[in-house]
Amino acid sequence: MTNKSYLAEYAQAVAADHEILSRTVESARKLFTGEFPSDPAQEFTALRQMLGRKLPDHFTYEERRIFPALLADHPTEELNATIQKLIEDHDKLLARIRILQGLLLHRTAATCTPELWTQLLDFFEDLEEHTGREDALFRQFSTLAGR
Ligand SMILES: [Fe+2]
Ligand SMILES: [Fe+2]
Repeated sequence: MTNKSYLAEYAQAVAADHEILSRTVESARKLFTGEFPSDPAQEFTALRQMLGRKLPDHFTYEERRIFPALLADHPTEELNATIQKLIEDHDKLLARIRILQGLLLHRTAATCTPELWTQLLDFFEDLEEHTGREDALFRQFSTLAGR
């Protein structure tokens, strides 16, 4: 397998991960707005799992596999700067995740305070902004890889 086909494969893996994250965020937003998903307790557990495991694992995967592969194939200053910014985002998001996890401890969807929901919704917004920038970047390189 050439490096370029790896890139296309990685781009697909990231897109699939982002899709899972996006579905979890949508369900969590419904918990907040009162449009309860079919199983609120299960959705709340999914939210905790996303924060505690899925997101940190996803960031690690991007930093260890995806970003180095992209840079190896396109070693430009511009891409390097873009990736450094994405890694800074990860660090900031991880710091907020640790705070949110502490606040969510011993809570259920029904006992979340309005302040906690506000923090969660802010976090979701910033997370989506981050994944949106990655999606655009990976789409661009996936298209290049397909040539
Ligand atoms: Fe990321
Ligand atoms: Fe990502």
